[in-house]
Amino acid sequence: MSEPGGSAPEAGALQRPSAETLHAAELAALAERDARTGALVPTGWALSPQAVVDFVIGDPRHGITAKFVGERAFVERCVVALATHRGLMLIGEPGTAKSYLSELLAAAVSGDSTLTVQGSASTTDDAIKYSWNYALLLDRGPSLEALVPAPVHRGMSQGKVVRFEEITRCPIEIQDSLLSILSDRVLTVPELSGPDRVLHARKGFSVIATANTRDRGVNEMSAALKRRFNFETVRPIRDHAREVALVQQQSDAALAAAGLAVRVPADLTDVLVTAFHELRTGRAGDGTPVEQLSTAMSTAEAVSVAVTAGLRAAWFSGGAPTGTDLIEALVGTALKDEPEDLSRLRSYFSRVVASRTSGRAGARWRELYAARQRLLE
Ligand SMILES: Nc1ncnc2c1ncn2[C@@H]1O[C@H](COP(=O)(O)OP(=O)(O)OP(=O)(O)O)[C@@H](O)[C@H]1O
Ligand SMILES: [Mg+2]
Repeated sequence: MSEPGGSAPEAGALQRPSAETLHAAELAALAERDARTGALVPTGWALSPQAVVDFVIGDPRHGITAKFVGERAFVERCVVALATHRGLMLIGEPGTAKSYLSELLAAAVSGDSTLTVQGSASTTDDAIKYSWNYALLLDRGPSLEALVPAPVHRGMSQGKVVRFEEITRCPIEIQDSLLSILSDRVLTVPELSGPDRVLHARKGFSVIATANTRDRGVNEMSAALKRRFNFETVRPIRDHAREVALVQQQSDAALAAAGLAVRVPADLTDVLVTAFHELRTGRAGDGTPVEQLSTAMSTAEAVSVAVTAGLRAAWFSGGAPTGTDLIEALVGTALKDEPEDLSRLRSYFSRVVASRTSGRAGARWRELYAARQRLLE
């Protein structure tokens, strides 16, 4: 146990270290490469645009691990947007790695992904710009020392990328408080006087916002604010093999981090990713129409089902996960609050899963089919 008030815990003791902590060695190597090759690093950035893209999508030949799975050209567009005087708005279905991509970009561009505002119906200006330490405020009056900077204030004064998660969940007037910041790059603190009253953003400051297309719509954003962002849609991974590889790699890593020696067998990961893909897109591999579930069957959910199946197998069945563990893990992921999803899933099992159960290649589908009662009870 660590001492209260002791030093910061090691990354290994954290549930989820930030990207800059987890990949500190890669970021240092890329900065060193920039220095060696004389790459142009924009003022206020930690890395060159080229190195930022390499960090985000990976460059395995040079020891940079693959992270976000997507087109290089897409990531390049995101990086260019950050260098302009517009913000970057990542929109898309739930679980398509919008938050993950924004974290990776902030870690690479600013070396810091922690300046984050979490948008919700109750997000206030204080949580975005600044608030006050009331003891100091009462004692000394409004002064820079009494000001408690929130992420946007810190991002502007330090020249860093600020992440604004789920921006469309905030009330419109709160969203619009970003207007002058994004256009004039200035934050006024009316309570202060003198030079401290106006904060001019340092170079390097930018905003990456994310918005979920299933939530309250991006359409409700004011036209004025929309104009100040470059919109990029993050799409689900299209390539089956890359999605399988990602789910395998992330579930292996999570199970290893939990200290377990199990991994989800490759053929079971394949079945999981196939089923999620079909239930997401509404089409089976042979073109048979499938009823889509109301729950987002995203890659993020597939990873979480794989990890849950692995934990269950390791703790309670003492071996590698099987179709039964997968089905148990699916409860609560695929079936949330929509009773109709149950009948959609039933029909998927009887029309698609059942047709794949023959022969050696059908072994995993057979396991799944045999265990279906657990899911459908
Ligand atoms: N293209 C992808 N590249 C890498 N990981 C992905 C990709 N798509 C999904 N994932 C998985 O999704 C996880 C991240 O999901 P994240 O929370 O960033 O999604 P999100 O789009 O922000 O979802 P939400 O809309 O619910 O906030 C990753 O850790 C990874 O497991
Ligand atoms: Mg998110």
